[in-house]
Amino acid sequence: MNKIITVTLNPAIDKTTSTDKIVPEKKLRCVHPTYEPGGGGINVSRALSHLGCESLAMYFSGGFNGNFFKKLLTKENIQSLVVPVKTHIRTNIIVVENTTGFQYRFGMESQQVQPKDWKLFLKKLEEQSGYEYVVASGSLPDGVPLDFFGRMSAIVKKANAKLIVDTSGEALQHAIQEGVFMIKPNLNELSFLYGKEELRMDEAVFAAKSIINKKGCEVMVVSMGKDSSILVTANENHQIVPPPVSVKSTVGAGDSMVAGMVYALSHGMKWKDVLLYGVACGSAATMNNGTALCKKEDVEKLLLQMKSENKI
Ligand SMILES: Nc1ncnc2c1ncn2[C@@H]1O[C@H](COP(=O)(O)OP(=O)(O)OP(=O)(O)O)[C@@H](O)[C@H]1O
Ligand SMILES: [Mg+2]
Repeated sequence: MNKIITVTLNPAIDKTTSTDKIVPEKKLRCVHPTYEPGGGGINVSRALSHLGCESLAMYFSGGFNGNFFKKLLTKENIQSLVVPVKTHIRTNIIVVENTTGFQYRFGMESQQVQPKDWKLFLKKLEEQSGYEYVVASGSLPDGVPLDFFGRMSAIVKKANAKLIVDTSGEALQHAIQEGVFMIKPNLNELSFLYGKEELRMDEAVFAAKSIINKKGCEVMVVSMGKDSSILVTANENHQIVPPPVSVKSTVGAGDSMVAGMVYALSHGMKWKDVLLYGVACGSAATMNNGTALCKKEDVEKLLLQMKSENKI
């Protein structure tokens, strides 16, 4: 039985390669291509796996790319629950220019999802039992209704489990209209939810409380990059300033943070430790190049460092 299910509606294969210089019209010799499975929930499953925690990854998939995608996950000991669609999983391309170190990221448009596909997704989720947490991360592909995470929330509540949502804009707005267990917006995402063009850091707790009071969520974690992170519930507030780290790439920091918090929750930790694990995993992810997520040894080092500095 899997205690944690991750949900990815917009998965992608990330193909990374490098070339000396990017110039127009010339054939560019690209070397050592690597392939990684990506998309919000998939990243959470991979980061959980780095922490030694199992999860079931549920995602839309199709075509021969879909089979390859599943193999990539199996190689990382992640179990798949595939909801079939007619189109291929997209492949994003990341090219590193060796002479400058710049990274060029080409993201492909999402696969087209039909009404019967997203209805099947909800049905398959309804058929699951015995899980404790569902983590939905990432954007909605074309064809999926904006209230999809709200619909998921109703199903997860019925199963006496908890839904954690990390997305943005209207998809997040609809999720809190139904009410979810936890959300993890950054400050921009929270500003949109709160209906203000820009929120200052010191306004985040107030904005989070007002959404919690309206039963939009039970817990909110607002991440503010290197500056701070706060965790707010109806009765508690906690804040942590992330440890100083040598940042290589912030890609995947948010998903690693969510994975850290789900790990802590599924191990019965208290709120302040949930935030501590989240920040340690988010910051550990930034210590690696490209799309690499948090490594367990970095997380452990940062946890020790933060505890000894009494960050919490
Ligand atoms: N420059 C940094 N230095 C240290 N830690 C960082 C830095 N940037 C991000 N982090 C860590 O990652 C966590 C999440 O980062 P951030 O607030 O940027 O999330 P996000 O905007 O949701 O990111 P994403 O684009 O991955 O969704 C932070 O709480 C922090 O622990
Ligand atoms: Mg994010």
